[in-house]
This record gives sequence, structure tokens and C-alpha cells, in this order.
Amino acid sequence: MSATSSQEATPKPTRVLFVCLGNICRSPAAEGVFLHLLAQQGLEHAFEVDSAGTGDWHVGRPADARMRSAATRRGIALPSRARQITADDLGRFDHLLTMDRQNLKAVRSLAGPGAAAQITPLTRYCRRYGTEEVPDPYYGGEEGFDRVLDLLEDACGGLLETLKAERAGD
Ligand code: 4NP
Repeated sequence: MSATSSQEATPKPTRVLFVCLGNICRSPAAEGVFLHLLAQQGLEHAFEVDSAGTGDWHVGRPADARMRSAATRRGIALPSRARQITADDLGRFDHLLTMDRQNLKAVRSLAGPGAAAQITPLTRYCRRYGTEEVPDPYYGGEEGFDRVLDLLEDACGGLLETLKAERAGD
């Protein structure tokens, strides 16, 4: 067969990385929420999803037990183990979604000028809530974890609709 096959190539998956500070609360929850939406829509094949933290304190740990409990109550599993973001992630992922201003600044400085990946605050995709950050729930009460999930379900729904449209336009 020649190099220019008439068969259509399988479209590349869209690579999405969620980023917070510790990678044990917000970004693993965003990863779990997004994976849950993909499973509901039969779209797992079209995306690669991961999460990372800008800090390294919790590397190797599962998501915070309070975050996992709140997610489980909504039927959402959080399977990831914490890892720290690396400069390579800027080349590997198409979209990096940050939770707050501090993460956004850290990821932008890791990327440097001219990075191809799109770095965007996740709340930009919210359709119901008008907030600029997903607040850090680590030092607060149980209700903070539910608030995080409310925001993430809203934002991840909007993000998925946008990325589906982007893929359809490719
Ligand atoms: P995350 O939350 O960034 O949503 O994972 C935090 C987890 C741990 C810490 C801070 C925020 N910490 O200071 O250890």
C-alpha cells in the first residue's frame, strides 16, 4: 500500500490535562467528572485525560478521602494518583485547564512564550456559575468539596461541548 492510503486515518485523541496545586482535590475531581461525562456519551476513545499538581507534596497519593466521598455520592470515581506537572506536559497535552489564578500563573511560567498547548482557567467553560476560580477546599469543611463538584460538573460539561465542536471542525 502506498504512503497515501485512501483509508481515512483515525482522528487523534484530544489530550486534556487538569491542573491544581496539590493534585489531590480539585484536578483529580475534574479528571473524574470529565471521564464520567465521556463514559456517559461513549466518547472515551476520543480523549486522553489526566491531572497534575504544580506542587509535589502529595505525589503518589490517591485523591483526598473527603473529595472521593463527595464524588462517590454523585456516582463519580476518582482513580488518579497525584503527580507533579512537568515541562513535557506542555508538549503532550492540547489543553491545560487550571483551577485558580495561582495555578494559571505557575503553568504559564512553566510553558514560556510560544507554547502550543492552550492554557485556560477551567471556569471559563462554566455555563451556570459566574466565578473565575475553583476554590481550594483543602482547609475548609465538607461543603467546600460539594461546591467544587458543582463548579466542575458545570465547567466540564461546557468544556466537553466546546472540545466536541473543535473535533468536529478538524
Ligand atoms: P488541590 O488542594 O490543589 O485542589 O489538590 C490542595 C491540596 C493540598 C494542599 C493544598 C491544596 N496542601 O497545602 O497540602
